[in-house]
Amino acid sequence: MKIAVLPGDGIGPEIIAEAVKVLRALEPAGLHCTFSYADVGGAATDRFDDPLPAHTLALARESDAVLFGAVGGPQYDALPRAKRPEQGLLRLRKELGLFANLRPARIHPGLESASALKPEIVEGMDVLIVRELTGDIYFGQPRGIRTLESGEREGFDTMRYSEGEVRRIARVAFEAARRRGRRLCSVDKANVLETTQLWREVVTQVGQEYPDVALSHMYVDNAAMQLVRAPRQFDVVVTGNMFGDILSDEASALTGSIGMLPSASLDEHGKGMYEPIHGSAPDIAGKGLANPLATILSAAMMLRYSLRQEAFARRIEDAVESVLRAGLRTADLARAGEAVIGTAAMGDAVVAALCGSQP
Ligand code: IPM
Ligand code: MG
Repeated sequence: MKIAVLPGDGIGPEIIAEAVKVLRALEPAGLHCTFSYADVGGAATDRFDDPLPAHTLALARESDAVLFGAVGGPQYDALPRAKRPEQGLLRLRKELGLFANLRPARIHPGLESASALKPEIVEGMDVLIVRELTGDIYFGQPRGIRTLESGEREGFDTMRYSEGEVRRIARVAFEAARRRGRRLCSVDKANVLETTQLWREVVTQVGQEYPDVALSHMYVDNAAMQLVRAPRQFDVVVTGNMFGDILSDEASALTGSIGMLPSASLDEHGKGMYEPIHGSAPDIAGKGLANPLATILSAAMMLRYSLRQEAFARRIEDAVESVLRAGLRTADLARAGEAVIGTAAMGDAVVAALCGSQP
């Protein structure tokens, strides 16, 4: 199995190294992957003046799956939009047709006290956010900054979704709900925005094909509030690109740290790209402090969804659980006074747990 590895910027290379370490540790057990590296994001802009060079895109296309670190950094903020690191990621999603973004946010037993919320509120939280990833205001045209007759400038973007785009992401979400708690909450702003009024109609139509899944609808402002008030009420949440971006960061803080949330971005055929939902964290880059678990858990999702290796995926997830249960913490997860380990030590601990020795 051929994996394209795109470490990117900031902490990207450090966390990716740990995920690759964990995948390699499964070789003796029969998992055989080849890893081909390429630049993306700011690292690619630096070397090739393009955040998604043609050879990186070609490698991603010809691989069975893509493992992605993170992109971005303050040194790139002044660049024209097309050269900014984020464009590397957004174009990759669009070019590969990765419309379905799965972001599971669950509280790992033992991490309740690391959550931003009271332990009794987050205990048992297990939400799957299904975020549409190639449409919405992220990609809608026209967009730009123009000068009005008055001489004042105006910025504008276009929120748009076609019925087909809503239908296919709704199907992914209903199918996921079927395999879980059979509850789906669709999040929109149908009281204000036409785009999401259509979204709600189409999701409701698709719901008729899934009578076994309980469908509800919620406005995004209320959903943001309910997520911190009573997160256990949610099973699967489906929403558009921008609302999903925001709600998934919010959900991550409930699970203890943004450093814990993996993601899978899938196309129509299950080919995918796997990345932690957090960013490049330039403030801690190169210091060996970053939490690699979101990336390691993303590698597990890769084994499950693109490589169909459920047993290996489980083994990685169990190893992460046991490391957390043993009390190992990177800085983002630790409470005051708790001992802290670095990025590589956390990766080593997961490998040790995988190989059956005590972390
Ligand atoms: C994410 C990130 C990206 C997004 C950025 C880096 C473009 O925040 O994956 O959630 O907005 O989708
Ligand atoms: Mg985000």
